[in-house]
Amino acid sequence: MKNLVAGNWKMHLSPREVAGYAGRFAPETANLVGTVDLLVCPSFPALPAAVAAFRGTHVAVGAQNMHQELSGAYTGEVSGAALVDLGVGWVILGHSERRHVFGETDALVLAKLKRAHELGLKAIVCVGELLEERDRGETEAVLRRQFSESLGGAGPALVTKTTLAYEPVWAIGTGRTATPETAQEAHRFLRGLLEKALGAASEGVRILYGGSVKPDNAAELMAQADVNGVLVGGASLDPEGFAAIARAGA
Ligand code: PGA
Repeated sequence: MKNLVAGNWKMHLSPREVAGYAGRFAPETANLVGTVDLLVCPSFPALPAAVAAFRGTHVAVGAQNMHQELSGAYTGEVSGAALVDLGVGWVILGHSERRHVFGETDALVLAKLKRAHELGLKAIVCVGELLEERDRGETEAVLRRQFSESLGGAGPALVTKTTLAYEPVWAIGTGRTATPETAQEAHRFLRGLLEKALGAASEGVRILYGGSVKPDNAAELMAQADVNGVLVGGASLDPEGFAAIARAGA
């Protein structure tokens, strides 16, 4: 299975900065075609510029969130149908900042996941424990709950088409990466949940690691048996650094 190296730009990089980024990132990674899958996820206003800048390249474009309804009186929200209209192919769902800063629940993430699949958007569903949950020894219980309630409820056919991301909340934006062994342990646990839910088809589901991934730790993380790529925040804002991470995944 090829690794997926995905960049989550969060609320950074304005529309006018996208073309410059693409002009540096796409050529730097052109020789990786076929060896690794690449994805960037800009903020909503930067999506049209990103779709235009990466058109015809090997770099896919995704959104960081979407609403579960197709349209309606939801001021300030963005419909998945509008993303499809723009030519966006992917969407991140249930990122820890969505869950913990904006209060998204597992049930909401599941509703969004179902809609994303219905629209033909490829989804990355994020799960991961808080530091206090890890310290209390609840990591597996949290992952099991998030897996079954924000993903498992979608049914096997849909789970097979979903990408999972393990992002321990204590490692996001903190510079404190999970060690490759800690990451592998959680990924192995998630792989087991996938096996129970899907049987042999579970082997085709990628599990990304996210949380302070940098050019100097990416290779070691992706060398783990059940780590099938990375979801990169801060380090994806620098096109050369992100290209180095892409090479680590190739
Ligand atoms: P980080 O963010 O790489 O800046 O820790 C990862 C994420 O939130 O997806």
